[in-house]
Amino acid sequence: MKPKLAVNIGGINMKNPVTTASGTFGFGPEYASYIDLNRLGAIVVKGTTLKPRQGNPTPRIVETPAGILNAIGLQNPGVDYFIEKALPYLSNFDLPVIVNISGDTVADYAKLAAKLEQVEGVAGLEVNISCPNVKKGGLQFGSDPESAAEVVRAVKGSTNLPTIVKLSPNVTSIVKVAEKSAEAGADALSLINTLLGMAIDVKRCRPVLGNVMGGLSGPAVRPVAVRAVWQVYKEVELPIIGMGGIVTAEDALEFILAGASAVAVGTANFINPRATMEVLDGIEDYLIQYGYNDIKEIVGAAHRR
Ligand SMILES: Cc1cc2nc3c(=O)[nH]c(=O)nc-3n(C[C@H](O)[C@H](O)[C@H](O)COP(=O)(O)O)c2cc1C
Repeated sequence: MKPKLAVNIGGINMKNPVTTASGTFGFGPEYASYIDLNRLGAIVVKGTTLKPRQGNPTPRIVETPAGILNAIGLQNPGVDYFIEKALPYLSNFDLPVIVNISGDTVADYAKLAAKLEQVEGVAGLEVNISCPNVKKGGLQFGSDPESAAEVVRAVKGSTNLPTIVKLSPNVTSIVKVAEKSAEAGADALSLINTLLGMAIDVKRCRPVLGNVMGGLSGPAVRPVAVRAVWQVYKEVELPIIGMGGIVTAEDALEFILAGASAVAVGTANFINPRATMEVLDGIEDYLIQYGYNDIKEIVGAAHRR
């Protein structure tokens, strides 16, 4: 008998626990020739803002040992484009669409939430309060528990859509931000976003990235991300989407055993566009191999050993 893979993330029904990390999977079509999008548990789309954004000056990506630094700066065509052009394409597939939203102000988040509420085909919101690459908003909200709560309250006051709050590792206590987000009404949590980092070009004697600093992602951050999931799972009773350096099924299983109910594949998509499918197949193989009937049996299991 095949093991049960379905999970519920704060009201979003996913047929399996594998989704995409925002900003690494576009709006979907970019990957449709590599994988069957219908097989994803959900898609989390590229970060969306009220107005189109140009993003930061180039260069915006640097390779580092076991990861990349990016300073894209939330380049995107704006929420109206998303609704008119990207969402109709995704409605051809049988998968929940989770929209990652960012704002310069608390009011921006509320407006985005209200706008997306009106549209058919949006299963939930992922509220990005953790982007290290923008001057206004972003990390400013995610690094202070009270500000995070303010954003969550504004979003929850503007929509009935399930609301997932995406947390930053660039804080003293990720648990405090998670607790305040939960009190403010978050339905689920995503963790983690990128770690603030930088690289210097020694020949040119200056920072490599046009924006000087960027966000570190990929396998380099995985131990930090697993630790964050472990800590938050212990203290906060909300479903967690775990991410940060997942390349293989074994990586994803670390997150699930630490307490994540679902996992997102990010940077790995750039190296292997089939990574999500390999992670999904590998999780299923693991459950069969170890005799589990349901993915839920192993969520947080490492805490019980
Ligand atoms: C190029 C790039 C763009 C990203 N854009 C966003 C974004 O728009 N919104 C967001 O919440 N996170 C964004 N992220 C963060 C990822 O969703 C993810 O949290 C992070 O990269 C850790 O996962 P990974 O190591 O598997 O990539 C971006 C990451 C990368 C590498």
